[in-house]
Amino acid sequence: MTKRVFIATYGCQMNVYDSARMVELLAPLGFDRAEAAEDADLVILNTCHIREKAAEKVFSELGKIRALKARRARRGAGMLIAVAGCVAQAEGAEIRRRAPFVDLVFGPQTYHRLPEMVAQALRADGAGIVDTSFPEEAKFDHLPKSRPGQGAAAFLTVQEGCDKFCTFCVVPYTRGAEYSRPAAAILDEARQLVAGGAREVTLLGQNVNAYHGDGPDGEWGLGELIRALAELPGLDRIRYTTSHPRDVDDGLLAAHRDVPQLMPFLHLPVQSGADRVLAAMNRRHTADDYRRIVGRLRASRPDLALSTDLIVGFPGESDEDFGATLDLVGEIGFAQAFSFKYSPRPGTPAAAAAGQVPDPVKSERLAVLQALLARQQQEFNRACVGRVLPVLLEKPGRHAGQLVGRSPYLQSVHLTANREQVGDVVPVLIAGAGQNSLSGTVAS
Ligand code: SAH
Ligand code: SF4
Ligand code: F3S
Repeated sequence: MTKRVFIATYGCQMNVYDSARMVELLAPLGFDRAEAAEDADLVILNTCHIREKAAEKVFSELGKIRALKARRARRGAGMLIAVAGCVAQAEGAEIRRRAPFVDLVFGPQTYHRLPEMVAQALRADGAGIVDTSFPEEAKFDHLPKSRPGQGAAAFLTVQEGCDKFCTFCVVPYTRGAEYSRPAAAILDEARQLVAGGAREVTLLGQNVNAYHGDGPDGEWGLGELIRALAELPGLDRIRYTTSHPRDVDDGLLAAHRDVPQLMPFLHLPVQSGADRVLAAMNRRHTADDYRRIVGRLRASRPDLALSTDLIVGFPGESDEDFGATLDLVGEIGFAQAFSFKYSPRPGTPAAAAAGQVPDPVKSERLAVLQALLARQQQEFNRACVGRVLPVLLEKPGRHAGQLVGRSPYLQSVHLTANREQVGDVVPVLIAGAGQNSLSGTVAS
């Protein structure tokens, strides 16, 4: 009999990748994907610990799933509940203390053991399994070698973990130390993704441009890896995320200059425009370093569009510091950006720092910053109107006959086209620009 698994994914793209791999791991056990949690024999929450709101959401979701589990029990059907991802890693057994009906807790580095854990949980009958170790063996060596189709645009994790220890961030604790996969394994996986219909691959890592994996002729940086991927027939588009300004090296700049498949869009978090704050964050770059790096990137690829992450209200941030952030954003001009109120995270140095900023001040700064970023995004989108952009058609849109694709600059583009065209890159004359997306028609 087939069983069904429902996975809810929170947080970053690495969790999206991990969720897909969990589905692949469970397939040999007879698990199909369920569309809704109530239809599932196994419900997995793949969680995010980055900000308090994200982490707390897990417990409210668990409350709802507990009710579904009880409803299924009345019908004589069982349900295993699993908490995976970064909250699982950070809180471990504490999750079962707060939510004893959870059967499985496992972190991002142990999910390759999922088949054994599920079998064990079925036998354990409520005893609960917690596995948040950082195993010696590389998880990737224990994941299925073959990857079924992941759609026209696929994710591929090439690097994991982080050694940077920004003082606000939980990632070095939840994902562990930096690790780069060998280039050959990445190239193999990319070939399979292309064979499964992918035209675009986004290389993932918490600190992806710190990539330094074994290549056939010694250690490769991300630039070398991108060059090798660009040789794969059928792989038309390459992206990577998330990068750190400190790790933008000459090899990567050269890849942006020389590799046409590398899309002219880069997510490069800056966090703040004030050097005092950047130092307190342990970012290891100044605002001017960031300006210089962006200058070099734009010299390599003049049409490069940039995206970033920003935090307001970091401990000690003054009005003047915030003003420096606005100045930097004004100068750089972002096509897109994510901005957040600083959220103190247990165990991180900044959470215990003096000068915590009151929430109303954070809210006000965030509103001002987001208004500026929204204007920049709108300007960037409007400047695309009248241009013909190559668009990778990814999936059907909300309306009949509509498809949604992505521009080179990662904007969503809505257009009328046949379903059979999903997976094609087509030239699109951009006719309209909204806050978050473009619309247009296929150009002949
Ligand atoms: N690997 C990514 C970071 C992932 S977290 C990188 O190095 O860029 C994504 C973003 O969340 C960060 O860039 C930061 O802007 C934000 N963030 C991380 N910790 C935060 C915290 N404690 N409070 C608010 N925002 C935070
Ligand atoms: Fe977190 Fe990114 Fe800093 Fe690493 S570089 S600690 S992932 S914000
Ligand atoms: Fe969240 Fe973990 Fe990603 S904390 S942002 S899911 S690395």
